Amino acid sequence: MQAWWRSAVTYQVYPRSFVDADGDGVGDIAGIRSRLPYLADLGVDAIWINPWYPSPMADAGYDVSDYRDIEPVFGDLAEADAMISEAHQLGLKVILDIVPNHTSDQHRFFRQALSSDPGSPARDRYYFRPGKGEQGELPPNDWRSTFGGPAWTRSTDADGNPGEWYLHLFTPGQPDVNWDNPEIRAEFEDTLRFWFDRGVDGFRIDVAYGLTKDPELSDIGDFVWPVPVDRPVSVEHPHWDRTDVHQIYRQWRAIADEYDPPRAYCGEIWVGRSDRVAAYLRPDELHTAFNFEFLLAPWLPDHLRAVIDDTIATHTEVGAAATWVLGNHDVCRPASRFARDQHQVDPTGATFGYFRDLPADPALGQRRARAAALLMLALPGAAYIYQGEELGLPEVEDLPAEAMQDPLWFQTDGQNPGRDGCRIPLPWTSDPTTSFGFSPANAATPWLPQPADWGRWSLTEQDGAAGSMLELYRQALAIRADHPALGDGTLQWLDAGESVLAFRRDPRLECWVNFGETPVALPAQAQLLLSSAPLTPGGSLPPDTTAWLLP
Ligand code: GLC
Repeated sequence: MQAWWRSAVTYQVYPRSFVDADGDGVGDIAGIRSRLPYLADLGVDAIWINPWYPSPMADAGYDVSDYRDIEPVFGDLAEADAMISEAHQLGLKVILDIVPNHTSDQHRFFRQALSSDPGSPARDRYYFRPGKGEQGELPPNDWRSTFGGPAWTRSTDADGNPGEWYLHLFTPGQPDVNWDNPEIRAEFEDTLRFWFDRGVDGFRIDVAYGLTKDPELSDIGDFVWPVPVDRPVSVEHPHWDRTDVHQIYRQWRAIADEYDPPRAYCGEIWVGRSDRVAAYLRPDELHTAFNFEFLLAPWLPDHLRAVIDDTIATHTEVGAAATWVLGNHDVCRPASRFARDQHQVDPTGATFGYFRDLPADPALGQRRARAAALLMLALPGAAYIYQGEELGLPEVEDLPAEAMQDPLWFQTDGQNPGRDGCRIPLPWTSDPTTSFGFSPANAATPWLPQPADWGRWSLTEQDGAAGSMLELYRQALAIRADHPALGDGTLQWLDAGESVLAFRRDPRLECWVNFGETPVALPAQAQLLLSSAPLTPGGSLPPDTTAWLLP
């Protein structure tokens, strides 16, 4: 039987913003449980849940203080077990998020490290180094935090004097762990088993390309990252995508394969090029990885076709299934990204909102988001839907400074708008007195404010409404579940002119996307299965529209 991860549609649940069942303004596991039937009905195969572990929330849960428990704001282990078994009863796989590059600074290991001496075994679990300069007042090297500022923070010795520095490629609350230390390896392997034993079907691996570091911790200097596609990766970056990270995943794969059925991994691998991603998908490593080249691609046929071809070629070479993804909790919502002039959108800058200054046409963004959804769901392989994409939610771009939560905003002194705009609590109803159905009545204010008109995107507004984004997703997923051509497999391009992408899936299905400015004739005799917008009265495919056809 074909492995489920080769064709699954996975729905990403961002628990803080999904459903708040207990009324504290933050989503929780009880809330997820209440909406599992909605997800099963939507037609997805799996859910991926962003970190739900105990956390001081320096980075919205990506700072984990205990990998084998549940953050009390979200619930407890019994609730998690109940959720896993209810999801399984509804036929949904459950994927959790593991964060192996760093722990929270409140993790027991880091607290032990801080209260231990330089050179001690407790400190060896992290990267502690003396500073440079006469008094050790300068960071040990030139590495930068992904969120801005130096990647090093100076610790304080027991006597109150400034001590060694520790490494954090993200916030100071997320110290990087040392993967050469056997106790770190054991801690994470035990964590995998802990959740696999509870029935979890797989893990999304956070910052999977980051874990190992140059033992010399040498300066980055003028190293260009990501390494451009036309250049060989002859010299390794000091902390991203290093060759020795792969042996960690060989070990993890062996653990996943001990289980029946085998468990699966999906890597978060931002390395800018598909050949380097595919290296993680060799048969004894990870099963899948997010296709960020597709996520970042502007809505332009040449660019998309190149990404699709490149993805399929590199993945086929290692026998892995491709994945397709339009958004997640770190990037601008696709409906808002596609609302911009796609010639001006920097394909490397779609994350973290760098193009917000470009004028937006929201209706065009919706239209293209619909077309993109049908394109994505017709491509060979697996796909991801980030919560709210099925409702067409836009990025919230006018959050006031006082509402901001993302460390990216703070560490760049507000230069970068950060990721809060794609994390706004979901609208389930049009009733503002319950935060649009996110919370029960008389609840606390949601952790991020919802726009006043948020209800117009809600489930109740779209449920059963002809032409709504939700109904488009439901129809597409129902066809995908049913039609043997969709999911894993191959595609053949059809020659349809330069402003059209058209391809055939076997047996007998075609997907046509019109990127041009005028309608395009579809093959005569073809039967329309589904389209992202109505065809013209003459049966042609309008601009920014995708159609699925039976030729
Ligand atoms: C990943 C997560 C992101 C987080 C970062 C650090 O990129 O998706 O949300 O901030 O890792 O853990």
